[in-house]
Amino acid sequence: MSRVEAETPRVRLSDYAPPDFLVDRVALRFRLDPGATRVTARIAFRPNPDRRGAPAPRDLLLDGRNLVLHAARIDGAAVPPEALRQGPEGLRVAAAWLPEGDFVWEAETEVAPEANTALEGLYISRGMYCTQCEAQGFRKITFYPDRPDVMAPFRVRIEGDAPVLLSNGNLLGSGPGWAEWEDPFPKPSYLFALVAGDLRAVEDRFKTRSGRDVLLQIWVRPGDEPRCGYAMDALKRAMAWDETEYGREYDLDRFMIVVVDDFNAGAMENKGLNVFNSRYVLASPDTATDSDYKSIEAIVAHEYFHNWTGNRITCRDWFQLCLKEGLTVFRDQQFSSDQRGAGVKRIEDVIRLRATQFREDASPLAHPVRPEEYIEINNFYTATVYEKGAEVIGMLRRIVGPETYARALDLYFDRHDGQACTIEDWLRVFEDASGRDLTQFARWYSQAGTPHVTARGTWEGGLFTLALAQSTAPTAGQPRKAPLLIPVACALFDPETGAPLTETVLELSRERQDFTWDLPARPVVSLLRGFSAPVILSGPAGGNGGAFLLAHETDPFSKWQAGRSLALGILAKTSADPGAAPDPDYLAALARVAEDPALAPDYRALLLDLPSLEEAIAHLVESGRIPDPLALHHARRRLEAAIADSLGPRLRHLYDAHGLDGPYSPDAAAAGHRALRGCALALITAQDAEAALAATHFAAADNMTERMAALSLLVGRNRAEAALAAFRAAWRDDRLVLDKWFAVQAAHSPPETAVATVEALTRDPDFDWQNPNRFRALIGTFANANLAAFHAADGAGYRLLADWLIRLDPVNPQTTARMTSAFATWRSFDAGRQALIRGELRRLGARPGLSRDTGEMVERLLREADG
Ligand code: TRP
Ligand code: ZN
Repeated sequence: MSRVEAETPRVRLSDYAPPDFLVDRVALRFRLDPGATRVTARIAFRPNPDRRGAPAPRDLLLDGRNLVLHAARIDGAAVPPEALRQGPEGLRVAAAWLPEGDFVWEAETEVAPEANTALEGLYISRGMYCTQCEAQGFRKITFYPDRPDVMAPFRVRIEGDAPVLLSNGNLLGSGPGWAEWEDPFPKPSYLFALVAGDLRAVEDRFKTRSGRDVLLQIWVRPGDEPRCGYAMDALKRAMAWDETEYGREYDLDRFMIVVVDDFNAGAMENKGLNVFNSRYVLASPDTATDSDYKSIEAIVAHEYFHNWTGNRITCRDWFQLCLKEGLTVFRDQQFSSDQRGAGVKRIEDVIRLRATQFREDASPLAHPVRPEEYIEINNFYTATVYEKGAEVIGMLRRIVGPETYARALDLYFDRHDGQACTIEDWLRVFEDASGRDLTQFARWYSQAGTPHVTARGTWEGGLFTLALAQSTAPTAGQPRKAPLLIPVACALFDPETGAPLTETVLELSRERQDFTWDLPARPVVSLLRGFSAPVILSGPAGGNGGAFLLAHETDPFSKWQAGRSLALGILAKTSADPGAAPDPDYLAALARVAEDPALAPDYRALLLDLPSLEEAIAHLVESGRIPDPLALHHARRRLEAAIADSLGPRLRHLYDAHGLDGPYSPDAAAAGHRALRGCALALITAQDAEAALAATHFAAADNMTERMAALSLLVGRNRAEAALAAFRAAWRDDRLVLDKWFAVQAAHSPPETAVATVEALTRDPDFDWQNPNRFRALIGTFANANLAAFHAADGAGYRLLADWLIRLDPVNPQTTARMTSAFATWRSFDAGRQALIRGELRRLGARPGLSRDTGEMVERLLREADG
């Protein structure tokens, strides 16, 4: 047994038991002080009538970490010390000291927010008090049954010097040095929030369709008010969308967003008081890129949508995390798709899914969408829970159809409002609404790993047969996999005219299955249209390869995938054989789509964009080969130059034709023109003779999108010295822009110099490594976005990451643990790199006092190596 296991027990889904006590109300009083904040909690408890079979009488178990207990009372009477047992994880009140029925527990505790660098519980970010309670941070604020199936209304009184004092719900009253809040909706403790500081509100209003007038506030530091406009606009659009698409209205008198600089995640959906990482709110044309605007819109919507999917209906336990996260991601994807265009959005989501979730599923970190055990729940806020969780809902919707999906969701909200639910509850509303048995479909929630689907087509005597097969490789703890129900959207095309003959959704439910059609000639098959299932597709009829589909497919995803598959094949071939020429059919087809006026500019930009190094690596691994990151990097560069040669003067034409006049607008259409122009710029400057255009573009840029597009090319081509200096001088006081300055060098520095560049940047006075955004911008970007350098054969990249994780772990375990996942692909590489990565992981794992978060990650990452 490892050290981690010995100290901290595994939590198992199969061990779930309902709480012994329920909470009827909570009243909290905070007296804020940076070094010694006093928290008084009055909690009305009631024995849980549902706690069948539990031996009585029961002790009262309260979670609590790093709390100093000053006083405890039950029904007003002091609890004697012999009734209490306090350990590192909480407090036990002996049953003998508890009244028979209901009682009020009162505790006065002390915490030190200024010493809290982990950014969980109550902490201070640049002078501003802030909380983060999901998943288990509330226990760092006061003693409580800190589990999501205990829901209660909260009343909060805050006392402190800060001019603005905020908590969840509606404001009851306030005066100099105090404020009182009430949240009438019963909620689990993870949705509690408190914020206090010198803040300014940007305000607006929203009228719900039943006539409720809602005050909207975005709270920021003085000076940041002008950068909130886009987030506010996105919020109002999200509120309107949830009414029309899901029939969901907002339920309090005000909705607040608070912007903080130090945050472990993107944002948090606390009831009525969302807390956001500043990078997902603050934007101006001069400081934010098109991609920042897109993320702001998506994340503002995501957190808002949680009000119904997460807050009104929450999770029974943390194994059910995908119940709220998968569904809310699915909803934010639908929203962005409606706002910006479905085809491009789907492709972007698939790129992300493959880069994050497929990678996780192929690694020792693979786990089911609903995990069955954990040591530290913070380690399970993963691409599998979020992104694959959303894919599973997309499949469900495709299988039952959009009308039944809508009825199932209505039923879900009706039946479960105010409850803490499970995936079984979720699937049952679909069974009830559709009349279908979803037992097999439910395996998507319990079985880890990405299924491989192979396809073979034969045509004989007027009959076309498509033979599909599925298999999923073993993952940790799951040696044998059962077949899944896989919706495979499919079209058959006339090989002569290019017209679709049939469009349908095949349900692949067995290991092998044949589908047949009467056809006078052999068709061209397109499978997995719209990426109808999160699987890896291969096989002659299923590769979607070929310039035919790139030319004729009408499904935007599959047309794009056809080109992508060709590009991946070329990269695989030319990385092994640098002299090999890229397929001329591919180059010719690409030239046609680049200029096709029927295709929207943002879509054309995706068609022209080459697969990332990460995707190229994954492609080789999926086909059983060992990738050489540096060789792939150079192959990618050569392919860019070959495309530029083949497109010739047409590139310059694209570049000129998609320049925009007038002021910057972040809308999708304008962003599409900039994306296509940026692609043209990248290809033009891939030719040495034209490299100067990047500097010209940088100098002429009047917005951050174009500035960053040019700067990343300059860095990648080793010509960025002047531009980096100018950029730094112009933005030295802007934290979010300075993050970009670090990140662009970490991501794009050439492999020969990147490690040295990043090392030098770690000594920069502005490398404030305790700030998660800054740490991620430099160290995270290097390890995740500059793979040719990170995987340097001498191990210098690995060492750099491990050194910094060792430094960060005692300060911020959550961010450290998350970043260990950069090592997750280690089994894909050659023996030399494998040994180097394992060595770094063992070095990290052996640190005395290593956090539980990082300890669990290291153990999982190494588990197959050490048996
Ligand atoms: N529930 C948050 C979200 O989706 C995620 C989150 C915010 C989080 N802060 C966190 C997860 C801290 C783990 C730790 O959208
Ligand atoms: Zn979420």
